[in-house]
Amino acid sequence: MKRSHLVISGLVMVTTLILSTGCNKEPEAPNKSGKTTTQKNGQSPPVVDQEMAFKGEELYNQNCVFCHQADAIGKPGIAPSLTNKEFLAIAPVNFLVETIREGRAGTGMPPFSHLGNEKIEQIVAFLRSHATLPSRIKEVDAQPEAHGDPRLGKQWFDQVCSTCHGPEGNGYAAGGTGTAIGKAGFLNKVSDGFIRTTIKEGRSNTRMLPFAGPNALADLSNREIDDIISYLRTVPSK
Ligand code: HEC
Ligand code: HEC
Repeated sequence: MKRSHLVISGLVMVTTLILSTGCNKEPEAPNKSGKTTTQKNGQSPPVVDQEMAFKGEELYNQNCVFCHQADAIGKPGIAPSLTNKEFLAIAPVNFLVETIREGRAGTGMPPFSHLGNEKIEQIVAFLRSHATLPSRIKEVDAQPEAHGDPRLGKQWFDQVCSTCHGPEGNGYAAGGTGTAIGKAGFLNKVSDGFIRTTIKEGRSNTRMLPFAGPNALADLSNREIDDIISYLRTVPSK
């Protein structure tokens, strides 16, 4: 009697375990037809721990919503979108964690180190739960460094980028809608691949347009884009 009882309760436990972990491990993403599909590696948005994302949402609403707005869609001249799909597809987890922890000196983005790593990671999970595109973090990170001509890059930057990003990439302080891409707080945390991909493809539903291709505002060549990156790498200022 005792033994079979043990076996049965053991079975129940195992089944509950399988069922509960099964639920957590089957992330679902809406597809075009509105149905949900199980995500496949490499072709779907990153798998995010739902419980962490849930806690992160509350922390986001307490700490970030004033500037980054509801659903983190951002507001021109106030704070960038954190749920933009092109951004989330290429922004490494470390970049997000460190930017939140340290803020961006000399900009409106304050440091949140007082929250501690666990809470910051929950916020990051919340942000990443909005991703709708497959992750390209590895591919973008592995791109070669830019070896352009900073003098030419400065000319391009002054002509094409400075109206929004400010002279020397000072950001909102200069009155535009673009972030402070000439400051160390940004440059020290991103790869050249991240900058390059953002310039080429832009960020949909923001004022950051694509700057490569026939339909772009300015059809910059790969070399010209690398000139700009090399220029940016020479200006980092506090
Ligand atoms: C019409 C305005 C505009 C122009 C012109 C523009 N940008 Fe941007 N850029 C933006 C905005 C706005 C963002 C942030 C998107 C947001 O607010 O969510 C951005 C974001 C970026 C980022 C990512 C920065 C970050 O904080 O993650 C890079 C890199 C960048 N732009 C580079 C450039 C370069 C280089 C040029 C010139 C070739 C350029 N941009 C021209 C408006 C502009
Ligand atoms: C007082 C306003 C303000 C608050 C509050 C704020 N931010 Fe920001 N945040 C900004 C600004 C402004 C920038 C752009 C700085 C620049 O020009 O580079 C920014 C940039 C960022 C970036 C970089 C985005 C990019 O495109 O590269 C991340 C990530 C970020 N914030 C996350 C957060 C999170 C998470 C919180 C809450 C814990 C938060 N921020 C709270 C103003 C704010």
